[in-house]
Amino acid sequence: MGAVKVGILGLGTVGSGVAEILLKNKESINQRAGSRIELTKVLDKNLDREKVVDIPTGIMTDRSEEVLGNSEIDIIVELIGGVGPAKRFVEQALEAKKHVVTANKELIAKYGDELFALAAKQGVKLHFEASVGGGIPIIKSLQQSLTANRIEKVIGIVNGTTNYILTKMADEGAEFEEVLAEAQQKGYAEADPTSDIEGYDAAYKLTILSAIAFGRAISLDNIYREGITQITQEDITYAQELGYTIKLLGIAKRVNGEVEARVQPAMIPQDHSLAGVKDAFNAVLVKGDAVGELIYYGQGAGSLPTGSAVVADVIDITRNIDYQVTDLNEKRAYKAKTVKSHQELTSKYYIRLQVADKQKGLAVVSKILGDNDIRVSKVIGADQATKSVSLVFLTHSVIEKNLQRALKKIKERTAIKEVSNVIKIEA
Ligand code: HSE
Repeated sequence: MGAVKVGILGLGTVGSGVAEILLKNKESINQRAGSRIELTKVLDKNLDREKVVDIPTGIMTDRSEEVLGNSEIDIIVELIGGVGPAKRFVEQALEAKKHVVTANKELIAKYGDELFALAAKQGVKLHFEASVGGGIPIIKSLQQSLTANRIEKVIGIVNGTTNYILTKMADEGAEFEEVLAEAQQKGYAEADPTSDIEGYDAAYKLTILSAIAFGRAISLDNIYREGITQITQEDITYAQELGYTIKLLGIAKRVNGEVEARVQPAMIPQDHSLAGVKDAFNAVLVKGDAVGELIYYGQGAGSLPTGSAVVADVIDITRNIDYQVTDLNEKRAYKAKTVKSHQELTSKYYIRLQVADKQKGLAVVSKILGDNDIRVSKVIGADQATKSVSLVFLTHSVIEKNLQRALKKIKERTAIKEVSNVIKIEA
């Protein structure tokens, strides 16, 4: 059995998982790959930190040249994350005709088109299964198993950190900051968790899913994005009372020849197929015109689940290493885009406001909503300990620009103390 040599860049949460799987499942991996996969060099910027996996010290290095410049290495596994220096390293690897496997969603979402072009020019592969949904084989499913379909929509819970936070807030009444710290400790959150809680991480993943599902690279600027930092216990309680669960969703749909793409917290009915996806689990609902609805569910973050997807990519490349197979899907995926403007999107909404006087507040808000073609399906008013009153309006489907115009008018009225939150309802 010939050996295929692998170099890992980055020995953090995912890097450790990859090394552990390669060492632990060596026999079966080699059998399946048809070659001996040999961990040859591992780059770690901090050689002194305690290793969670027992890697022979001889292969550890803190110098990237020792990995990228090693002519024996066939496959580079990039697990540094972020753009710099990961992009430079991936480019160097591809230029040196090394195959690359990455879990880096930001890199693929922002620079996928140029990196795939470089890989094709160099006749090497760039695989990225772990970039979306951790251990869930969603990329391969879209690229291989569902190619007979016209994909109608992809709706995903694709960020483990925010799902963990929303679950603990709903089920245990936990405080946001406290649960975020737990998610960081468990290795779900990004180094800078702003990317998780403000929805950037989910937007990167949605860009990648949309590119493969619709053959359209959606620029990140064209994805409407909202995080979960505005979600309060009060919203969660109302959602429960109304029969909903709040999830951070990445939604990409085909709408009359255009693609609608957004990342935002949404209320989904408690019997919705994504409502039971709890903790750091991810799930992606895909609707194909032939196959109907499918749900992919599993651990979307963490060391071993993400490592599972990375190692599978290494095995795939190894299987094909002696006969270059061009992945047509990646090339086809990155095509022109037509993304529906956020202002034209339609949705149902939950609007929570504080008013000084219930009857007056109801009258003012109802009138403004009506004047802007927004039909109300339900109103809840709750007297609170303070003098102000909390009112919740649920709307029928509205056009975003009408909603924004109405909210602006509502905020101008003195009868309205504040518009506390506006949350999408995804039925
Ligand atoms: N921070 C990411 C998450 C890690 O919470 O889902 C996996 O991409």
